[in-house]
Amino acid sequence: MPVFPVRPEVVRLRPYVPGRPIGDVQQQYGLADVVKLASNENPLGASPRAVAAIRQAAGEVHIYPEGSARALRQALSARHDVPEDWIMVGNGSDEILKLLGAAYVRAGDRTVVPGGSFPNYRAVSELFGAIVDEVPLLEESMDLRTMVRLAPGARLIFLSSPNNPTGAVVSEAEFRAFMGAVPPETLVVVDQAYHEFDESGGDWLGLLRLHENLILTRTFSKAYGLAGLRVGYGIARPEIWQPLYLVREPFTVNTLAQAAALAALEDREHLAATLANNRDGKAFLARLCEQLGLHCIPTQANFLMIDLGRPAGPVCEGLLRAGVIVRPGTGFGRPSCIRVTIGTPEQNHRFATALRGEMQG
Ligand SMILES: Cc1ncc(COP(=O)(O)O)c(C=O)c1O
Repeated sequence: MPVFPVRPEVVRLRPYVPGRPIGDVQQQYGLADVVKLASNENPLGASPRAVAAIRQAAGEVHIYPEGSARALRQALSARHDVPEDWIMVGNGSDEILKLLGAAYVRAGDRTVVPGGSFPNYRAVSELFGAIVDEVPLLEESMDLRTMVRLAPGARLIFLSSPNNPTGAVVSEAEFRAFMGAVPPETLVVVDQAYHEFDESGGDWLGLLRLHENLILTRTFSKAYGLAGLRVGYGIARPEIWQPLYLVREPFTVNTLAQAAALAALEDREHLAATLANNRDGKAFLARLCEQLGLHCIPTQANFLMIDLGRPAGPVCEGLLRAGVIVRPGTGFGRPSCIRVTIGTPEQNHRFATALRGEMQG
């Protein structure tokens, strides 16, 4: 077989390691009932209204989807009080991040990304040949002071708030000062995949109106419970989105995903139940950590980073044997930590019992 030369940028990429699928763990450990608390999905499932909308839209799948997800963009524009063309919908917010790289990053450009955060910022940068300045976290969140020093000449800066995997946020005051100091030709992307869970406040949309170089990305995968359908969106000026429409596939968000996202957005009750469940679960898990004498990072998201004070690998293995999948911290450079998604009360109890067994057994 001939050797087909792969782009060096691609050869250097590190594979994304997802949370382990339930089926895998069931098979490996011979378990019928496995709980996945590893990928920050919605433990209450999708909104029943979204599921009904999927059923209804099933009759239309022989027709191509509306390419720009117009109805969904209109609903999001009304929700966020921004013009319709400020919204771009993507196949997950991951697609928006990648399209930003495809449209704006030239080989040899510099990007600034947080270390100990979501790995896609680096992956998108490297795919398009950027030189990446990685800035370690400061107090579990973005080190904006260092980032701003690296901003002149950078093409793109990625921030995560709430940050995955720590759940820490950037305060509005801090971010306002940061944006005031970043050169206007440097694009700033704030990934807000967990925004709906964030109770710290902050007028992010107001900031968007002030700064032409600011982009917010959000998703239907987390609080809206549609991770399997792949719908996310970005909010920014239309001039920022125009080149992305040129490089993207014409029909990236499928008919079922568009219908479900629209229905999920309108189901305020399901969102409220999701947020209430998260609040209670967060308090329960924080108490558990206190009882076990474990440090956990205060979170504004739907997951909790817990420091076990010992290598997490064997504990994760024990949790798997008990049918609970969590994310080991190794991939985030925290070998003594686990990241656990906040589940239903039943799932949280199951995790608590398994973790107690591992730590005290
Ligand atoms: C910080 C962060 N950004 C983006 C994503 C991707 O979300 P989506 O499902 O919208 O592609 C995730 C998913 O885990 C995430 O944690």
